[in-house]
Amino acid sequence: MSVVVIEGAQWGDEGKGKITDFLASKSDIVVRFQGGNNAGHTICFNNKKFALRSLPSGIFNESIVNVIADGVVLNPFMLVDEINEVKEGGITNFNLLISNRCHLIMPYHLDLDGAYESLLSDKKIGTTKKGIGPCYIDKAARRGIRAGDLLEPKFLKEKLETTLKVKNLELRSLGLKEYDPIDLYNKLMKVAELLKEHICDTNYYLNKAIKDNKNILFEGAQGMMLDIDRGTYPYVTSSSPSSNYVPQGSGIPPKAIDEVVAICKAYTTRVGEGPFPTELFNELGDKIREKGHEYGTVTHRARRVGYLDLVVLRRNLEMSGATEIALTLFDVLRNIKDLKICYAYKLDGKIIDYIPASLDEYSRCEPVYKDFEPFDFKDDTKTFEELPIEAKNYIKYIEDFTGVKVKILSIGSDREQTILRY
Ligand code: IMP
Repeated sequence: MSVVVIEGAQWGDEGKGKITDFLASKSDIVVRFQGGNNAGHTICFNNKKFALRSLPSGIFNESIVNVIADGVVLNPFMLVDEINEVKEGGITNFNLLISNRCHLIMPYHLDLDGAYESLLSDKKIGTTKKGIGPCYIDKAARRGIRAGDLLEPKFLKEKLETTLKVKNLELRSLGLKEYDPIDLYNKLMKVAELLKEHICDTNYYLNKAIKDNKNILFEGAQGMMLDIDRGTYPYVTSSSPSSNYVPQGSGIPPKAIDEVVAICKAYTTRVGEGPFPTELFNELGDKIREKGHEYGTVTHRARRVGYLDLVVLRRNLEMSGATEIALTLFDVLRNIKDLKICYAYKLDGKIIDYIPASLDEYSRCEPVYKDFEPFDFKDDTKTFEELPIEAKNYIKYIEDFTGVKVKILSIGSDREQTILRY
């Protein structure tokens, strides 16, 4: 382990949490580099369950430094709640660094997220309504409020006055309540009391840590099919969840990355709207949803479920330079009859092996499948060799097709139910 990136290789919710916990325990530093509290995973610590949203996964380990880097959008009010939850759980000695350059999600971003979605009526993106998109809009429009602004009260006050002139105009035009800059300033100053000791230049910190040969884990949120540039636009999130964005979102050089672990579910799920060629609308889809507990951590929405799609997986592994696959929820596929993997699409009668950029074309793609024999194995299977040949064939096909080895195989929610192939 040295500098390792974990990325979701599908539409998010690939089970990154378990693999991240596993790899975080071997790290000195865990970094979030994109997204915000639209992400979520549950960690069990001291027999209590914690739903982490913005805090990196190493927060329960006193010896790990947890970094919220530049590319994240951070809701300071929600972060305070999350920190208090962690403290109430008995963790008081955590190490947290927040980039002074990361942008803050303001209350009006949440209002706007809801309003934009309502305006789209039947063309809704299905966002998590956490204000992610509107915050990235203001970042790009150069009127965002950054974490570092909390350390400069006079500057923050002036900035809020200027920014709110524009935002209030927009809020008013949408029939939404306007914000008073002084009131918002006072609220921000309150959360700043708790957060200011954590805010610093994390670029400087991370580059020094690389020189000092620290083990650093970059923890991606969401999945590459939700990438703003290469996902199923506009049904995407507003950041880039792949290793490609780690240098930009954290300020480290690309050459510093040693390993890229792509997390892939043994089947596919998606929440929110947008094309999903291998989606199952039948009893099998319902069965996989129940067996895999496919309901959102943040929104509790039922996830859409489908067969594994290797057109998606291969493109994402290639694009992000994945060095290994962690295949998750493999146990969910036990005793599934009619098991298939998609290896190509049929578009207007032609076989293609790429993801069309056009939403209309992608919606018309029909999956081309290879059939697989059903398999079963014991909960306490410890090695790859113990798996039945049918299960091995399923995995081998993924490896041969993508050219990337499945080095981590998750066969249950317990940490022990992880088969390593190093
Ligand atoms: P937003 O990130 O809240 O703007 O939502 C944009 C799209 O990304 C929606 O389809 C969401 O359902 C999806 N999305 C955002 N975060 C996650 C996640 O952590 N897992 C899966 N889907 C997500």
